Amino acid sequence: MNKIKRNYHPWIYSTEISRIDGEFEEGQLVDVFLQDGKFFGRGYINTRSKITVRLLTTQPKTDRQIVEERIEQAIKRREQILNSEHACRLIYSESDWLAGLIVDKYDSYLVIQINTLGMEKLKDMVVGVLLKKFDVAGIYEKSDSPVRSKEGLNEVCQWLYGTGPEVIFYRSEDLTLAADLKGQKTGAFLDQRFNARAILPYAKDKVCVDVFAYTGNFALHLLKYGAKHVKLIDYSERSLQIAEQLLKMNGFGGRYELINENAFDWLRRESSQEKYDLVVLDPPSFAKSASSKISAQRGHKEINLRAMKSLKKPGILVSSCCTQVLSEQDFEAVLQDSADDCKVQVCILYRGSQPADHPVLLDIPETRYLKFHIMQIWRRG
Ligand SMILES: C[S@@+](CC[C@H](N)C(=O)[O-])C[C@H]1O[C@@H](n2cnc3c(N)ncnc32)[C@H](O)[C@@H]1O
Repeated sequence: MNKIKRNYHPWIYSTEISRIDGEFEEGQLVDVFLQDGKFFGRGYINTRSKITVRLLTTQPKTDRQIVEERIEQAIKRREQILNSEHACRLIYSESDWLAGLIVDKYDSYLVIQINTLGMEKLKDMVVGVLLKKFDVAGIYEKSDSPVRSKEGLNEVCQWLYGTGPEVIFYRSEDLTLAADLKGQKTGAFLDQRFNARAILPYAKDKVCVDVFAYTGNFALHLLKYGAKHVKLIDYSERSLQIAEQLLKMNGFGGRYELINENAFDWLRRESSQEKYDLVVLDPPSFAKSASSKISAQRGHKEINLRAMKSLKKPGILVSSCCTQVLSEQDFEAVLQDSADDCKVQVCILYRGSQPADHPVLLDIPETRYLKFHIMQIWRRG
């Protein structure tokens, strides 16, 4: 490959490679050299992907050394969270220099997700190391991401070690939450758990809506912090059923309504009246690549504008954006655009992001994705 400034980013694109020498199997570990013959790093190869090599190390280590050391480093990085939380993201792909691997811990269960062929080949080693480090009741593989098909991998969802329930209940401060092994991601959205705690000062006696609720993380926090009533909107019936189970388990009966509907339709209808004190928006990512940035901006504007219209003035808007290709600046421009259309003033009360177990590496801008704002919305003039 051509000589480049060393930047400690693990991706080597096909366009950066001038020559591939020797026989290899897709997914195997390979060495990358600069044109002057200097060793650049070791990672796994997949010529079917635009990212031909994903580096796992910049030193000539064995596969076992790499896996053991990277897992060790990831655990060390999270020592504090592991000591205080029942649930934690243990390994987050490139953020821990283990591209293609996600491991979440829910109490005594681990849920792993493999997204690349190279990591698939290291799976047994990864599971072996995890078992040495954690005394768990079960390890479940929930490899159902659509990106697997691009790597030539089928969906795999099964217990790899021990066994456990389809819905894992775990404690988060003094709430019971759930990871649904038939649900999204590894079962829960651990990236929002500290942001959900940040709404504490704004919940008391409020009439609220949790739009894109999944299993009710934000709704449960709002009710715990004293909200009068919360509506939960999601198009997944199964997620709302689990949310209802959690709402009852946590003692919030009679203070919620479940609405199984497309959030865009619901918001459009509700935006004709200023009814709510607080609205939470936590949509899925609206763009998988930079080419869809404009349509993602449009999607975020639509929901934020509708939510602003549905709020009493002043009201509280809690708005998230996990669309990686939109920066915080882009997100705030969308919020400003929505505010202009709605003729309101937006005052940012709190800015959140990813928790420490979803690390952002400055060398790898793609590891930064979550934007989270709590805002007061009031009429201009
Ligand atoms: C990012 S998750 C929400 C996570 C949740 N707030 C939490 O903290 O656990 C997005 C949710 O939006 C739901 N969803 C996606 N598109 C939707 C739509 N158009 N209408 C309703 N729900 C939608 C998904 O089913 C998923 O539960």
